[in-house]
Amino acid sequence: MKYGTPVSGTISSVSPEGPGVFEKDGRTFAVRFAVPGDQVDGTFRRRDKKTLFLDAQVTSPSSDRVTPRCPFAGRCGGCAWQQMDYPAQLEWKRRLVHQALGDHIGSPLPPVEPSPDIFYYRNRMDYVFGTDGTLGLKEPEKWWSVLDLTDCHLLSPETPRILAEVRVWAKRHGLTFWNGRSGTGLLRYLMIREGKHTGERLLNLVTSAEPLPDDAAHDLVARLSPLATSIVHGVQPKITDLSLAETFRVLHGSLELHEKLTDHAFAIHPNSFFQTNTKGAEQIVHTLRGIFGADRTEQALLDLYCGVGALGINLADRFKTVRGIEVDADAIALAQKNAAANDIGNATFEAAKVEDVVTRPGAALAEQMSTSDAVILDPPRAGLHPRVVKTLVASGPADAVYVSCNYRMLARELPEILTAYRIASIRLVDLFPHTPHVETVVHLQRTSKRGT
Ligand SMILES: C[S@@+](CC[C@H](N)C(=O)[O-])C[C@H]1O[C@@H](n2cnc3c(N)ncnc32)[C@H](O)[C@@H]1O
Repeated sequence: MKYGTPVSGTISSVSPEGPGVFEKDGRTFAVRFAVPGDQVDGTFRRRDKKTLFLDAQVTSPSSDRVTPRCPFAGRCGGCAWQQMDYPAQLEWKRRLVHQALGDHIGSPLPPVEPSPDIFYYRNRMDYVFGTDGTLGLKEPEKWWSVLDLTDCHLLSPETPRILAEVRVWAKRHGLTFWNGRSGTGLLRYLMIREGKHTGERLLNLVTSAEPLPDDAAHDLVARLSPLATSIVHGVQPKITDLSLAETFRVLHGSLELHEKLTDHAFAIHPNSFFQTNTKGAEQIVHTLRGIFGADRTEQALLDLYCGVGALGINLADRFKTVRGIEVDADAIALAQKNAAANDIGNATFEAAKVEDVVTRPGAALAEQMSTSDAVILDPPRAGLHPRVVKTLVASGPADAVYVSCNYRMLARELPEILTAYRIASIRLVDLFPHTPHVETVVHLQRTSKRGT
């Protein structure tokens, strides 16, 4: 098809990445920020594998289309679906998971459990500086275009004020902005983390070099300390798209943010993973506590990909022992500290790659999978390493709970896992309103003998 060719149609579904899609003349067309039921008139702009992307206008809106709260919705990469009514978002997430898991699940999927909050639900945002001094989030498909957000409904009502103060501060001190292509410029990210239950807020200004000029550092603290309990300066000199920093300097408060998950307290390092929707993560904890009933106090739980211990610590009272494994050594140090702070004496944590630990021959930890009674698998979006799937199938415990933030990887891994397990239950929990993401919690029960 030639660029600019006119195409019109009615959006009939969504793609896993978020755009609305429809089929016409044997082709799949996609329109960003379109809602199923929208009639659209557009022109062909770009091909991505088999999907043809259109630039399109909505000529007749879907009954599921709503007026978004945020003036940047429809352009900003932070919310793909804010213009879709929330119940419709939940149903489309359910259908996407159903399409992916299809044949493996047998029975229909339950409805997606809604997020307790659908605005200001996140406890962390990584706002990025544009090369021209803008500060906000990127437009989809335009890595160079950072929207200068004067509003954002993901983190908290104070966000616009914080972003505005930082912009004024950067200008006043004549600071430069990171350009990932040339590897030049100073200011890269403003990460904001909040304890939704503790009221703490940590700002992490990530730059490419240190130090910040002294007067600029003092002025930053003067401007932002009324809005933040901690302000830190992280330095990341490498060319990377991540907001992780290699070194930190505390300018105000402390390097750690504190948050509660149910009745347990957690210290979180700026670089550490922590579930981004606190109240939604509490639903996951309740789901796990429901799966692991009260009669397990003689049993051992293995918490794989444990982060700062959020899940294992919340389940420690149900088990005789909890063992957590996680690649990030800073997160493990905090998991140990968090266990102690919560008076939990039966949990231990080790810094290692799960795929090395579960299979390392002769090592004491190689026995962990085969000697545990239950395992939680909560991997990153890349899913489980093939060695982990193999070890689970060969010697995994009676109960395994897979907490998946990427159902497409789960769908790839399930056929092999189901040679040794059956699905006892599936719960879908929405941790990310206004995005196509959904958390899938699968309780697996072993059907074959270990070691077979
Ligand atoms: C989805 S998070 C889950 C964290 C934790 N279960 C929680 O609920 O807070 C995935 C975690 O896996 C860790 N990770 C990534 N790759 C890993 C690997 N190969 N081995 C061990 N941990 C890994 C990440 O650092 C991250 O903390």
